[in-house]
Amino acid sequence: MIIHWIVHKRICGHLAALLAFLVSQPPLSFAALAEGVSTIVVDGAAPRVNINPRLYGIFFEEINHAGEGGLYAEMVLNRDFEMTTLPQSAHWAGNLLRTEAGWQERKWFGNELWGWKLLAEGRARGAIKLVSDSPLNERNPHSMRLAVRAAGKRIGVVNGGCFGMHFQKGKWYDLAFFARTEGEARFDLTATLESASGRESYGRAMVKDVGGAWKQYRCTIQATGSDANGRLALTIKSPGSIWFDMVSLFPRETFRSRPNGLREDLAQTLAGLKPAFVRFPGGAIVGGMNLDNRIQWKNSIGSLEERRGTANLWGYWTSNGLGLHEYLQMCEDLGADALWVCNPGLSDNYRKAEIAPPERVKEFVQEALDAIEYALGPANSTWGAQRAANGHPAPFPLKFVEIGNEAVGKVYADNYRQFYEAIKARYPQLTIICNQRLQDALVDMVDEHKYGSPESFFNAHHLYDHADRNGPKIYVGEYGCNSGVGEGNLLAALAEAAYLLGLERNSDVVVMSSYAPLFFHANDIQWPVNLIGFDSSRVAPRSSYYVQQMLARNRPDEVLQTEVGPGVDPKSQGLFALAGIEATSGDVILKVVNRSATACPTAFSLKGLAQIQPKAVVTTLASDDPMVENTVDEPDAIVPVSSEFAQAGANFTCTLRPYSFTLLRLKTRD
Ligand code: AHR
Repeated sequence: MIIHWIVHKRICGHLAALLAFLVSQPPLSFAALAEGVSTIVVDGAAPRVNINPRLYGIFFEEINHAGEGGLYAEMVLNRDFEMTTLPQSAHWAGNLLRTEAGWQERKWFGNELWGWKLLAEGRARGAIKLVSDSPLNERNPHSMRLAVRAAGKRIGVVNGGCFGMHFQKGKWYDLAFFARTEGEARFDLTATLESASGRESYGRAMVKDVGGAWKQYRCTIQATGSDANGRLALTIKSPGSIWFDMVSLFPRETFRSRPNGLREDLAQTLAGLKPAFVRFPGGAIVGGMNLDNRIQWKNSIGSLEERRGTANLWGYWTSNGLGLHEYLQMCEDLGADALWVCNPGLSDNYRKAEIAPPERVKEFVQEALDAIEYALGPANSTWGAQRAANGHPAPFPLKFVEIGNEAVGKVYADNYRQFYEAIKARYPQLTIICNQRLQDALVDMVDEHKYGSPESFFNAHHLYDHADRNGPKIYVGEYGCNSGVGEGNLLAALAEAAYLLGLERNSDVVVMSSYAPLFFHANDIQWPVNLIGFDSSRVAPRSSYYVQQMLARNRPDEVLQTEVGPGVDPKSQGLFALAGIEATSGDVILKVVNRSATACPTAFSLKGLAQIQPKAVVTTLASDDPMVENTVDEPDAIVPVSSEFAQAGANFTCTLRPYSFTLLRLKTRD
């Protein structure tokens, strides 16, 4: 009867294959045999592949204000007044910074006190100026002088943060600043949290008797109102001059209550991904525009006023408040291993790389060894003692060191060997990651990056099927479907899902992955497509975020052999599928991408597995519009939805929605 029915149907020209499949399977339901039904077959008895528990991590780079004005909870813009500082041996060519090698960057500030404005109300008269007389210290040579001729109603300075300060009613904000005066001058200073116009005040505090030599002052203010676009005002009441430096305003509430910590909502969004590791600090910024502009981690530890900021090659100033210690702390607080990328003696490959002369390479090797000692060394080692002094006597969870970012060529290969040997000699437990495959050097793991169109990602579903199993393990350190997908739409997410299923299937060789870039500030974007949008008060994870979240939170321990429409080209059906088993629960986790515009009734057949219970949970990320995107104005335009699915079993049917990523958690235990 079934055979009779089949011969009268057009089943995409694959009748023979389907027939063979049906003969070898328990009978499918009628629904499974309707026209256009796809089939997905899981074979639990076939050889399985172990999945690395570290397959899903994150990559943090200071780009799009990911840290400065973003995850790093500092609210003041240009707190150190160093924004106009250039990397050594770079110079201005009009509005462009030019390195010696000829690389050019746009100016990242509008005036020399970018972020700061004079506030003069009533008949107040005065001026602010960037100065370098009597600096706070050699690492912070500039400060701001406020000279008041007439105090009027109110006079001082205001700072609106990075596209608006966000105050929340009832929450506390901690202000710290350095100030000095000359001669006998002393001021009572008022700090006010207020609206952008200054008309609304959300709380103030007075700091009395400010003056004399450089000294740090602190006060705390509880906000009496909420405003996503507020500002900080520092005002005085009498004429005279006062110098300010390192003016910092922090929300008391930070992620895991760390001082100098992370913005709670953004860090929680990262925690939502359950990242197994964090790669940091870059990316291109590891190399920098030139070698002086590389990440110099020693400028980024210790007290804030002793840190030296950097012009960031993505077009803004970074204070280095989010430094090596804070990155390592973030890894620990996220329950993730740390993957630190060091400079290999070359500036960024795509920015006319400056190459350290061979005799200087050992300095760069030592810089890396010192950083590793900071993370891992005993508290009585030179750098381990610094870590302890900075509040963390125990080692941090550093497990991986990558030598450079996207560096290639002979110089890189020669330098890599020196780094590898020096690091392995002292820290054999570390996995060293290389930017390229080298014939005649030891490579534990190689970092491969992939950006491109949806088509290229769907096609890459099979990219690693034939990867060399005898070569180094593969880490996809950066991937992102970023062309022709708006600012990151559902189609991009589905293409990435198909690609990631390919990584899972090959996770005997592809052992780690991380999307790039992670964050973007909705008011200042440097990279076309990114994972998590935000502004001063809002967060908007893109659909790509949800794909990763679904995968990372449902990562099986073993991959099961999974075939789409056996005998049928899966691409022609627009389906990509993979099943796996989670050891602790015994759950079978089934994931399917339907990239087509039509709903797809699909017959699932699972064999060689324990009995599947009828009740399962299905989670779907789907929309009829593949162009749909989450934005800070509409953060929930597309989010995954979970529900109970009561018809599971060894054979069952399920209709996959158009443009969907579906995840089924099938139970094998009660
Ligand atoms: O992720 C953005 C940039 O892309 C990274 O800085 C770099 O490694 C890559 O080219």
